[in-house]
Amino acid sequence: MIFKVFAVGVALLFTGSAESYEIQINNLLYMQQGLGWPHSLTVVVGHEALMKLTKTATKQNTCEVITPSGQSFMLTSPPSDRYEAWGTGCGLRVREVHSADTGRWRLTSTNSTQSFTGWIEVYVEEDTKSYEAPPISLLDGEVHPHLDLTSLDNSYCLVAQPFSQSSLVSGHCGVTLDKATRAVQGNWNILVGLPGRVKELHIDRRVQVEAERLDVGYVYDSNTNRVHLYCNILHTKKNITFCRFQKTTDTVGFNVMEGLSDGLRSYYGDGFVHKQCGLTIEKPTDQDFGTWRCSVGSQLRDGNTLVPQTPMQALINVPVHHNKASRLRNEAISNDENDLRTIFVQENISFTIPCHAESSLTYCWFLHPNGTQFTPLPLTREDQQFWYSGQSLQVGDCGITFAHAQNKDAGEWTCHMGARNKLGLELTDKVNVRVTGPLAANKKEIFVSVGANATIHCHTSNGNRPLEYCRFLSPNFVGINIDDTVTKESAILGRYYFTPERYMNQGDCSLSITSVQEEDEGEWKCAAVINTNSVESSDTATLYLKSDPSRQWSRAGITGMAIGLSCLLVILGGILWYKIGRPLPSLLNWNRRRSSQQNINQRSFDTVSYSTNNDVVRSSVLTNNSDDSATAVNNP
Ligand SMILES: *[C@@H]1O[C@H](CO)[C@@H](O)[C@H](O)[C@H]1NC(C)=O
Ligand SMILES: *[C@@H]1O[C@H](CO)[C@@H](O)[C@H](O)[C@H]1NC(C)=O
Ligand SMILES: *[C@@H]1O[C@H](CO)[C@@H](O)[C@H](O)[C@H]1NC(C)=O
Ligand SMILES: *[C@@H]1O[C@H](CO)[C@@H](O)[C@H](O)[C@H]1NC(C)=O
Ligand SMILES: *[C@@H]1O[C@H](CO)[C@@H](O)[C@H](O)[C@H]1NC(C)=O
Repeated sequence: MIFKVFAVGVALLFTGSAESYEIQINNLLYMQQGLGWPHSLTVVVGHEALMKLTKTATKQNTCEVITPSGQSFMLTSPPSDRYEAWGTGCGLRVREVHSADTGRWRLTSTNSTQSFTGWIEVYVEEDTKSYEAPPISLLDGEVHPHLDLTSLDNSYCLVAQPFSQSSLVSGHCGVTLDKATRAVQGNWNILVGLPGRVKELHIDRRVQVEAERLDVGYVYDSNTNRVHLYCNILHTKKNITFCRFQKTTDTVGFNVMEGLSDGLRSYYGDGFVHKQCGLTIEKPTDQDFGTWRCSVGSQLRDGNTLVPQTPMQALINVPVHHNKASRLRNEAISNDENDLRTIFVQENISFTIPCHAESSLTYCWFLHPNGTQFTPLPLTREDQQFWYSGQSLQVGDCGITFAHAQNKDAGEWTCHMGARNKLGLELTDKVNVRVTGPLAANKKEIFVSVGANATIHCHTSNGNRPLEYCRFLSPNFVGINIDDTVTKESAILGRYYFTPERYMNQGDCSLSITSVQEEDEGEWKCAAVINTNSVESSDTATLYLKSDPSRQWSRAGITGMAIGLSCLLVILGGILWYKIGRPLPSLLNWNRRRSSQQNINQRSFDTVSYSTNNDVVRSSVLTNNSDDSATAVNNP
C-alpha cells in the first residue's frame, strides 16, 4: 500500500519537471507530506476539516482531491456540497466529518508545466460531549495530595477550585495541593482542551474532603433483645488498638475485643481492621440504658515506628425502650426544676465554670452576667485570660476557666452547648457564681425550728483546700474550736459537733447542732486558716428560728391553734400570775418568731461536688424544698 503511494508520487513528479528535483525516496516522502497542511488532523464527528497545500503551482490550472476512499474530484466541481474550496491556493473544507473520512487525503496542484502533491492524515474521533467521574475523596490535612482530574487525552486544562482563581495546566489534567483542607471541597470547574474539538469541554468534578471522625450510634434489635452500640472511625489511616465502653454513671467499663464475650457483652462490628468498635449487650436491663462513653485507642505508622494516638471519645445516648420510656421522661422533668448550681470563687484567683451535656458537642460558649459572650479555646499562651477546660467536647464537657475572678463576674452565667448531629436549639445550663473570700458559707441564711438539727457549712472557695484548723463563733460569742474528731458522741456542750462525712483536708469547716435552741439564733461566724494562706479567712451565716413545721398545715389551723393556745395561755397565765405573781415571756417570744417566719424565703442551698479532670470543684445547688445539706460526688 505504502509502496503504491510512493509509486504514484514518483510518477507524478516525473511527469512534471524531473530535472529540478534530486530524487531520494526519503526526501520525497517528507516533501510530499510536507506540502500538506496540517500534516495530521484530528477531528471529532460533526466538526469541519480544513486542509491545503503549502506550495502550489504558479498559475494553477487544477486542484485535484483524492479522498481516503479513493474518490477523486476537481475542487471546482465537488461531488457533494460537503466539499468546498478553502483559501486561495489548493485548499479544501470538509463539512460534517464522519468516521469514513478517516485516512489520507491527497491534494494535487497543477499548472501547464508542473504539479505539486501533498497529503494530510485525518483521524476522526467520536465527540466527547460530557465527562463523568466519581467524586474525588481527600483526607483532611493530607499533605501534597495529587488529584487526577480527568482521564482524557487532553492537551491542556483550566482548573477553577471553589472560590479561587483558575489555573492553567498543560498536558495531563492534574494538580497537586499543598495540603487538603475543607476549603478545596466542592465542585471544581474544569475546562479541557481536547484534540479534534474547537470548543473546550466543561467538566464538573466534585471534591470531598473527609475529616477523620467517629461515627457513633446504637441499634436496638427487638427480635433478639439486643442493644448494639457502635463507635467507628471514619476516614482514617490509624489502626484501632483498643475499644472501651463505659456507662457514664458507672465507675467500671468494658474492654471490648473481637471474638470475646462475658456471656452478655461482646464485640459488635466488622472488625478492628475496618476501624470499627462496637459493643453488643444481650438482654439489656434498665442499667444498660442511658448515656455511654466510648473510647477508641489507635496508633499511626510513622516510618518504621508505631505512634500511639490520643484516644477518640464520644457519648452515645441510648434511650430506654418501650414502657421504660415514660420513666426516663419523668426523671428528665424532675431534673429540670430550677436547680441553680453555685460556684464559690475568690477574687483574683482563677475559677472554672463546668457544664456537661449527655451528648457529644461541636462547640460551647458562655454568657457572662453582663451579657458578654465567651467562647473558650484551648490554653496555648501564658497570658490567656480564659480557656477551655474539661476532657473534650466529644464527651460532652463544656467548661471555661478564667485566670482572674473579679467581683463583677458574680451572677448568673449561662453555658450554651451545640450538640453534634443535632441542629436546632442549643443545650443550655445556668450556673451561679459567687465571688467570696477564701472561706465561704454555703448557706448565708439557715431556717430551722427549735428542737430540730442544723448545719452551718463553710468551705474553701476555688476547690478543696486543706484547713489548718476550723472554729466557730456563736451569736452569743461562744467560741467553738472543732475538728473532724469531734463526733455526735463527744459533742461540745452536748450539742455541737463536726458534721460527719466532711473533712478539713477537703476544705470543710462544718458545724452540726442537735436540737437548736433560741440561744443559737443569730449570726454565726466560721473561720479557718487555709493551708497555703498566712491569714485567717472567715465568713458568716445567719440562723433563723421558725415555728414548728406541723403548725404550717394551714393558715386556718395556725390561727385556730393560736387562738386556742392563747386562750389556754391566758388561763394558765392567769393561774400562774395568781399563784406566782409575774408575767410569761415565752408567749411574746413565740409571736415574734411567727411574724419573722412570714418573711422567710424557703429556698436553701444544697451542696453538690463534681470534678472535671483533676480539679475538683465544689458548688452549691439552690433547691426549693430541701433543708438538709447533702453531698454527692460524681466521678466521671
Ligand atoms: C508552473 O509553476 C512553477 C512553480 O511555481 C513555475 O515555476 C512555472 O513557471 C509555472 N509554469 C507556468 C507555465 O506558469
Ligand atoms: C494497620 O494494620 C494493617 C494490617 O494489620 C497494617 O498493614 C498497617 O501497617 C497498620 N498500620 C498502622 C498505622 O498501624
Ligand atoms: C485583686 O487585685 C487587684 C489588682 O491587682 C487589687 O487591687 C485587689 O486588692 C486584689 N483583691 C484581693 C482580694 O486580693
Ligand atoms: C463584662 O465582663 C467581662 C469580664 O469582666 C468584661 O471583659 C467585659 O468587658 C464586660 N462587658 C461589659 C459590656 O461590661
Ligand atoms: C437530730 O440529731 C439527733 C442526733 O443525730 C437525732 O437523734 C435526731 O433524730 C435528729 N432530729 C431531727 C429532728 O432530725
